[in-house]
Amino acid sequence: MLATMDLSQIDQVVGLFNWHKSIGITVFLLMLARLIWRLSTKAPPLVPMAPVLAFGARALQWMFYLAVFGLFVSGYILNEAAAHNIDFFWIVEIPLFFEIEEAAETLAKLAHKTVAFSLIGFVLLHTGAALYHHFHLRDETLIGMLPSWRGAKQE
Ligand code: HEM
Repeated sequence: MLATMDLSQIDQVVGLFNWHKSIGITVFLLMLARLIWRLSTKAPPLVPMAPVLAFGARALQWMFYLAVFGLFVSGYILNEAAAHNIDFFWIVEIPLFFEIEEAAETLAKLAHKTVAFSLIGFVLLHTGAALYHHFHLRDETLIGMLPSWRGAKQE
């Protein structure tokens, strides 16, 4: 595709990808901080619910972490394979570190795409479940997701 573009269009694509990678890395760093916080403090208990729903809720929470970490690792491999330095928000340039084999690139491409679209599914599922708790089961699940100053009860 790049072969049919003029230089300004190529610049535009490279710029958009730099946004993509900078935002992706930021999401990863925020998620890492969130994971450290989650493991070092006690999570609020789930409201009483059927064991299968409780299992689903906890499993989905961990799938979010797994998906974001998977996107970071596969995205990073793709970037190294393409041999483009990342200019993190045009502030810090991250150099290339590894040589990537073609097989690893193919696998990373498949993983990145699959996980990215799965993540959209997780977000929809999470949103649907939260609304189901709020409007159908009428429990405190959705309120419990708010920060304490917006009404969530603390332990
Ligand atoms: C929340 C994080 C991210 C999401 C949701 C995401 C999503 C996506 C999606 C949907 C594509 C297009 C896939 C396709 O249709 O083939 C893509 C491509 C790509 N992403 Fe990400 N991404 C994320 C993070 C990252 C990070 C952190 C990097 C690099 C450090 C990265 C590097 C790339 C590259 C190089 C491609 C092009 C792949 C190709 O050659 O086809 N991404 N990403």
